[in-house]
Amino acid sequence: TNTYETILVERKGRVALVTLNRPKALNALNLQVMNEVVEATEALDRDPDVGCIVLTGSAKAFAAGADIKEMQPQGYMDMYLNDWFTAWDRLGALRTPTLAAVSGYALGGGCELAMLCDILLASDTAVFGQPEIKLGVIPGIGGSQRLTRAVGKAKAMELCLTGRTMDAAEAERAGLVSRIVPADELLAEALSVAETVAGMSAPVAMMAKEAVNRAFETTLAEGVRFERRVFHAVFAVADQKEGMAAFVEKRKPDFRHR
Ligand code: CAA
Repeated sequence: TNTYETILVERKGRVALVTLNRPKALNALNLQVMNEVVEATEALDRDPDVGCIVLTGSAKAFAAGADIKEMQPQGYMDMYLNDWFTAWDRLGALRTPTLAAVSGYALGGGCELAMLCDILLASDTAVFGQPEIKLGVIPGIGGSQRLTRAVGKAKAMELCLTGRTMDAAEAERAGLVSRIVPADELLAEALSVAETVAGMSAPVAMMAKEAVNRAFETTLAEGVRFERRVFHAVFAVADQKEGMAAFVEKRKPDFRHR
């Protein structure tokens, strides 16, 4: 039961797969795609039977950017009054862990969308960049901030000022992606990683995600304090008892909160 026009939503056990599906425009992210991805992933986030959300595109393009044709005629007041792209923030605010499986082009908004996800897996054909400058604009879905935090100022500046793209190997060396997988194995590997995450205690996975994300938002001392508080709190979750008992009893844990 897929009520969306630009994405496909599937369930595979506790894993949800959201596939961008605008092949004629290389999955360019127009407002409809944004609204559908945000609506679909928020619904999945509310579903206790979903433990990880995978976002992917096609073999040729994860997403070739925000939709240039849609943006071309807009003026400042259109962008401001519509609060253009702000809804994407809601994807980064989901509590359920998310994984971007990137093959082909992840440019501009496509790169930014991948960076909004928690885990970023790339195929060996992936191409990343923030080429907005070549269109006379700058990144608008957080690219200037998240790319800089991911790869450092040197590379982020060069990419944002020249529009040069990075291949998968460079993106992995720079720390933008966690791993590179052969293109024909990308989806299977992404689903397998997602299944692993979805097999953990859901509240503890949410807390782990929240703790890592805190590193991007605060000082080291505050971040460590936050981690310590949450670390103490997990001892109130039944799954701490189960996880540690399973280790001691040399068996697999059967987490209750999944
Ligand atoms: N917006 C709208 N349409 C796009 C698009 C985009 N970002 N990217 C590709 N398309 C469309 C093309 O216009 C083309 O449509 P038509 O067949 O109707 O002409 C179709 O998708 C196929 O694209 P190409 O023929 O260009 O395919 P290619 O294989 O020759 O080239 C590409 C692939 C190098 C990715 C090229 O499409 C390209 O450069 N795309 C734009 C990349 C870009 O600049 N992205 C940044 C967008 S701005 C942004 O994202 C702002 C932000 O930060 C939020």
